[in-house]
Amino acid sequence: MAMSEPLDAPSPYTTPPSSGPPSSGPPSSGPPSAGRLTAPGFAALKASGGKLTMVTAYDYALARWADEAGVEGVLVGDSLSMVVQGRENTLHVTLDEMIYHAEMVGRAVEHALVVVDMPFPSFHLGKHKAIENAGRILKKTRCQAVKLEGGVDQADTIAALTSAGIPVMAHCGLRPQNVHQLGGYKVHRDEEQLLADAMAAQSAGAFAMVLECIPSAAAQRITSEVRIPTIGIGAGAACDGQVLVINDLLGITSGYVPRFVKAYADLKTEIHASVKHFISDVRDGQFPNAEHGYE
Ligand code: KIV
Repeated sequence: MAMSEPLDAPSPYTTPPSSGPPSSGPPSSGPPSAGRLTAPGFAALKASGGKLTMVTAYDYALARWADEAGVEGVLVGDSLSMVVQGRENTLHVTLDEMIYHAEMVGRAVEHALVVVDMPFPSFHLGKHKAIENAGRILKKTRCQAVKLEGGVDQADTIAALTSAGIPVMAHCGLRPQNVHQLGGYKVHRDEEQLLADAMAAQSAGAFAMVLECIPSAAAQRITSEVRIPTIGIGAGAACDGQVLVINDLLGITSGYVPRFVKAYADLKTEIHASVKHFISDVRDGQFPNAEHGYE
């Protein structure tokens, strides 16, 4: 293509904000967080009795489509260490990398609450360091809340963050950042400890909590005893809401997929077939044709 030739469609990077059918461009220059569900709004939905839905997202495109679909929450999970970066566990992702991905998600989401995971060990180095790190996330990403793994043991940190005005979602039950201490990913069955963790997180000011990989009966008990929403993953149907890793939901995860995951699509197969189709079209001279070229 001659360099002076104009494109016959506007650049996707200048498309105006979506107020109708979605387009491929970024939303307005105004803060997308303005019209979003807030952390208190998210917490208040427990009283409505309806189920809350949350998915992870790590980039602009998937965050945008998930938001358009109507989830209440989008989580920039440290699972990105595994599903985006291809690492063996969640310990490897850094705070800077979380912020890099959260910025993309923060630009995309217009309706849902956006929560960012505090990666290991960004909240283990003292309360002041935790506030500094969570503050960096909120300042740089237009996301509204942080999530951290812990209950009783992290109550002081949760309290410090919330008193600094930073909404915190706690994460109890299986804590993947403890994988080495646990010796693997296991179902957590100590109901009294789980309840103590949930109560401590609530008392410290958490506005919601993830319950990961615990017996359904324990999740039901916690859900009925706490005022804040419980968001389950491998914790049964009684939780106030459910969260899934978007790669698992879409069927694009490589390798092991836990039993609690439900894949709602098989995009791995679709992607494979589409790329194979492209390869054969190019090799056979079917693409590009006149429709995809310029006079
Ligand atoms: O990092 C993550 O994706 C999570 C979810 C599994 C809740 O913490």
